Amino acid sequence: MQALEWALNPLAWCQEELKIKPRLFQRDLLNTTSRRIVLCCHRQSGKTMGAAMLACHNLIFRTGHVVVASPTFKQSQRMARTIKKFFNKCSHRPVLTTENAFFWESETGSSLSIVSLDQPDNIRGLSGVRLAIVDEASAVDVESYAALIPSLASVQDSQQIIISTPRGRIGLFWEIWNNMSYEKYFLPVTKNPEISASWLEEERKTMGDLLFSQEYLCDFTSAQSCVFDLDKFYNAIDPSISAVMI
Ligand SMILES: Nc1ncnc2c1ncn2[C@@H]1O[C@H](COP(=O)(O)OP(=O)(O)OP(=O)(O)O)[C@@H](O)[C@H]1O
Ligand SMILES: [Mg+2]
Repeated sequence: MQALEWALNPLAWCQEELKIKPRLFQRDLLNTTSRRIVLCCHRQSGKTMGAAMLACHNLIFRTGHVVVASPTFKQSQRMARTIKKFFNKCSHRPVLTTENAFFWESETGSSLSIVSLDQPDNIRGLSGVRLAIVDEASAVDVESYAALIPSLASVQDSQQIIISTPRGRIGLFWEIWNNMSYEKYFLPVTKNPEISASWLEEERKTMGDLLFSQEYLCDFTSAQSCVFDLDKFYNAIDPSISAVMI
């Protein structure tokens, strides 16, 4: 009976089994039924931990395949370690019949793949995915993401969760952030009372305004390596001039 309640109420499961009080956006993530979700949140806001809670809940209470993916295998392993830590805390959990660095399978029919997205070929061949989590998506290229997404096609209520802090107005994460078909979560540090103002001020001084606004205010600023500041470039355009004769 308790397991049924936890299956239907991931928030209660999180508080009672993991003994964690999820942050507001983590609660929303645990409860969402949207098929496409993008999280744009500041550094150290709890993105990876929130996604790990969701993956763990899926592994315990649902059947089907979960994929955790990041630009590098090391990053995916980091999330997998958090999932495992949560999994081991749970009094109600299935037995894992397979468990290695790349793949886990449970006696109840759930499974997990841990993959890197540094090359599209790494994920071709995956299928029947119910939940795909792409962490650090601003460092993932469009081709690798495009290779992963068809694996969700055959599962009716499959979900993809794309997570990052911004890194410029370029690439996969910027494209997805501007795609209307995704449910969007936006968390700049100004909306997070848990981070102290004095520590943030130190960070701003250390990293400079441009990087600070990217990492903590979640601004899609021009990339650090850009020769031109795109904001200045766009502000200089006069829309009343349609063409210039030379
Ligand atoms: N609900 C929570 N309750 C308490 N601590 C939390 C919670 N969520 C996250 N944390 C803590 O916040 C810190 C950052 O978490 P996490 O690594 O998930 O953030 P992140 O946004 O993925 O960071 P990064 O930007 O470095 O990838 C960790 O120490 C984690 O334990
Ligand atoms: Mg993270």
